[in-house]
Amino acid sequence: MTHIWQAVDQDLETLRQAGQYKRLKNLTRPMGPDSTIEGAGDVIVLCSNDYLGLASDPEVTAAAIDAQKKWGAGTASVRFICGTFDYHRVLETQIADLSATEDATTYVSCWNANEAVLPTLMAAGGDSVMAISDELNHASIIDAIRLGRQINKSAQSKVYKHSDMEHLEQLLKDHASIRNKIVVTDGVFSMEGDIAKLDVVQRLCSEHGAMLIVDDSHGVGVCGPTGKGVAEHCGVHGKIDCLTGTLGKALGGAAGGYIASRKNLIDLMVQKSRPQLFSNALPAATAGAATKAIEILTRDNTRIEKLRENVHYIREGLKSRGFETVDGPSAITPILLGETSKAIAASKRLLELGVFVIGFGYPVVPEGTARLRVQISAAHEKHHLDRALDAFSKL
Ligand SMILES: Cc1ncc(COP(=O)(O)O)c(C=O)c1O
Repeated sequence: MTHIWQAVDQDLETLRQAGQYKRLKNLTRPMGPDSTIEGAGDVIVLCSNDYLGLASDPEVTAAAIDAQKKWGAGTASVRFICGTFDYHRVLETQIADLSATEDATTYVSCWNANEAVLPTLMAAGGDSVMAISDELNHASIIDAIRLGRQINKSAQSKVYKHSDMEHLEQLLKDHASIRNKIVVTDGVFSMEGDIAKLDVVQRLCSEHGAMLIVDDSHGVGVCGPTGKGVAEHCGVHGKIDCLTGTLGKALGGAAGGYIASRKNLIDLMVQKSRPQLFSNALPAATAGAATKAIEILTRDNTRIEKLRENVHYIREGLKSRGFETVDGPSAITPILLGETSKAIAASKRLLELGVFVIGFGYPVVPEGTARLRVQISAAHEKHHLDRALDAFSKL
């Protein structure tokens, strides 16, 4: 056997030994407030990102089918060759409106959107560019900055302590001589469920001449009075230089990502960002689902209000059962358990009790802060939440 095959086997064995080997669970029914897992039976789902309950919504599903019937299975091309269709522009106009930006462009995932915007801007920044990133930012942002530094060897990066505004301000002051500063933060931090202090971050960026990029993947459709995201929650909607987000969570749950910003930034992404230049465009069914999801979100507040009631109900229920939870505007409630083995055991036991919730441990979260991450949807009814709470009581 060649060495690399041995390395593959060894790496897998290391994961098994460390209890970090992930066994994929096979769902045999569509995503919803409950589902069925092969080998485990019916479960209440408390770990999906289907915050507005649109992933298997009949209107969204019908829109996806209609789009596919009209446009076919796919684009068979990247955007700039012959892969740009009417439905892309319809969706991108909707996203720009939702984000209060001049324009938007789409990618097959938000991972790709982040890997488009950061490296492209870090390359554009030439010999005086620095990305400044919150320490708990999503892996796609971390990797995108690494890639940006590979592409432009002069580019620098710094990390500020999680949501520590004094640290961010200090970094901005310390690097005043760097012409092109980019501050990047998640809107909602996916493992903590807390939100960025976007009002302060936006003010600091504006005072220090830095561009602000916010990845609002977990915030859009969830936070803010009308679900426009964390910027709306923090009173700075329309003031963020650049937003990225996913279409795979609240906005229909299918797939896809976007960048929303000024016209010229979007144009630069279309001209130069490699995940769009060298990868197929968003297929019709996926875009059709997202377009309908955004239409439902902007039609009225029914789902957002139901989601908020559900989040409040589960948090109060968990608290009254002695669990420590953190309040906040997101739909994510982490329950800190400390040791990774504890979180894994708790999630295993909950599955036996008919509740699907994931335990996260090191290296996904820092050592000693292993947790269960509870995610709530507008699709949950009280009886789903009560069944889940009964299971937590038995833990
Ligand atoms: C903050 C954040 N950004 C980006 C992504 C990636 O999104 P996508 O699944 O569209 O690639 C995620 C998904 O987990 C996320 O939580």
